[in-house]
Amino acid sequence: MNLDVADEKNIPDSEPERQYYFMDLAHTLVEEESKRLGRKLTSCVKTFGCQMNARDSEKLAGILSYAGFVPTEDEHADFVIYNTCTVRENANNKVYGRLGGLGNEKKKNPQKMIALCGCMMQESQVIERIKESYGFINLIFGTHNIYKFPELLCESLQKRDELIIDVWDEGRDIVEDLPAKRKFSFKSGVNIMFGCDNFCSYCIVPYVRGRERSRRPKDILREIEGLASDGVREVMLLGQNVNSYGKKLDEDVTFAELLREVNNIDGIKRIRFMTSHPKDLSDELIFAMRDCDKVCAHMHLPLQSGSSRILKEMNRHYDAAQYLNAVDRLRSAIPDIAISTDIIVGFPGETEEDFLETLNVVKQVKFDSAFTFIYSKRNGTPAAKIEDHATEEEIKDRFNRLLSLVQQIGERKAKALEGKVMEVLVEERNAQDASLLTGRLENNAVVHFPGDASLIGELLNVRLDECKGFYYLGSLVG
Ligand code: SAH
Ligand code: SF4
Ligand code: F3S
Repeated sequence: MNLDVADEKNIPDSEPERQYYFMDLAHTLVEEESKRLGRKLTSCVKTFGCQMNARDSEKLAGILSYAGFVPTEDEHADFVIYNTCTVRENANNKVYGRLGGLGNEKKKNPQKMIALCGCMMQESQVIERIKESYGFINLIFGTHNIYKFPELLCESLQKRDELIIDVWDEGRDIVEDLPAKRKFSFKSGVNIMFGCDNFCSYCIVPYVRGRERSRRPKDILREIEGLASDGVREVMLLGQNVNSYGKKLDEDVTFAELLREVNNIDGIKRIRFMTSHPKDLSDELIFAMRDCDKVCAHMHLPLQSGSSRILKEMNRHYDAAQYLNAVDRLRSAIPDIAISTDIIVGFPGETEEDFLETLNVVKQVKFDSAFTFIYSKRNGTPAAKIEDHATEEEIKDRFNRLLSLVQQIGERKAKALEGKVMEVLVEERNAQDASLLTGRLENNAVVHFPGDASLIGELLNVRLDECKGFYYLGSLVG
């Protein structure tokens, strides 16, 4: 089926109406194909990367469902889309590795369609490599035009033998109100802003996600109200640096003010957010966290390095003392707050002394948990030009020393909660043992306890009977 002239005249110019038009058209195309094959068509969305990508994937899944595909986790599906990440080289390698498998399957099942989107697709060398070596792909688009997926899907369904590529350099308007299919019925990510203007010298995100743009508070609040009436109990407000929320909006609004508004929404029981940049962690935000009963007492505050010299090279705009001060301010306002972090080991030019300073800050702060990464060179970032000094073995050794320290501290902190009764949001049935449920504490730690699947989505009190390092075994109370 092709779009004839009459159809073209009917295509709305404004968004999201235009995309709803294409979703209906996709629905017709999928139905036709379904009739021809005598079965339903299936779709599979695979996410690589961060929570922001996970939320984007829910939008992709929402659009595919609207179009009539039956969702599945299985990559044997008729339509497979990878939502990719490029923050570190191994994220890219994972995608290339799995594409080979998809290609083999397409040989057996030629009507299968494969699409790629997300951060990796914003890099021209990636597109070149795919064109050269993975000719079986149907559709590629980037991070800025994800809302245009319905339109691209239609084009791709109609031109099955072509590779359609649509990647934009910069984001245009934020398009609201497209459907999303949530992975969990009771919790959801909510974008409050897109892009990043910080240009940390190692990081590719500002290049692949574009300039920082905030959604209007009324759109965010309307979305969360809708989620609440749909049974969502926990929201995670998402942005690369939520502390600078609102800075570019016409209206005068800060992240702290937004948080207070979200706290007033009936039905929402827990509010989380990520990520906070230490350089602009304001007292206003700390006090909003303290005052808002629904905001979890947990802060993810990426340190990256404990060496002030390296922090300067990283363009982070704070030094070790300022980071420690931010932690002090948080803990004096909210004494039981859990603090987690991200740390990079082996940034170019990092010496043993610099690394020891990182260990020192870790010892002082005593993080509840930490994600540790080995520096990965990203082409086009300023740090890629700095000459590397440490050897691979030295970096591996530092990484292992850091990991064992953060684990040791994390376990000790987790152990301190043993025996306590805490509120848990029940998330799922335990994958290994179906008699157990898995829930999450306010501090983001996981607890497994006996219970019935009907409790999923409820907030319940659970006694943390035994600490198993990074998780607990518990029992329901009352
Ligand atoms: N916006 C968030 C983090 C986004 S990326 C923030 O500023 O904290 C998540 C984490 O990946 C970063 O905190 C950093 O620790 C890590 N990361 C980013 N680029 C990296 C690189 N080139 N090599 C290794 N780790 C990196
Ligand atoms: Fe990357 Fe820094 Fe932006 Fe985070 S704040 S996304 S680390 S540039
Ligand atoms: Fe990766 Fe893009 Fe997130 S590069 S970490 S998926 S913003």
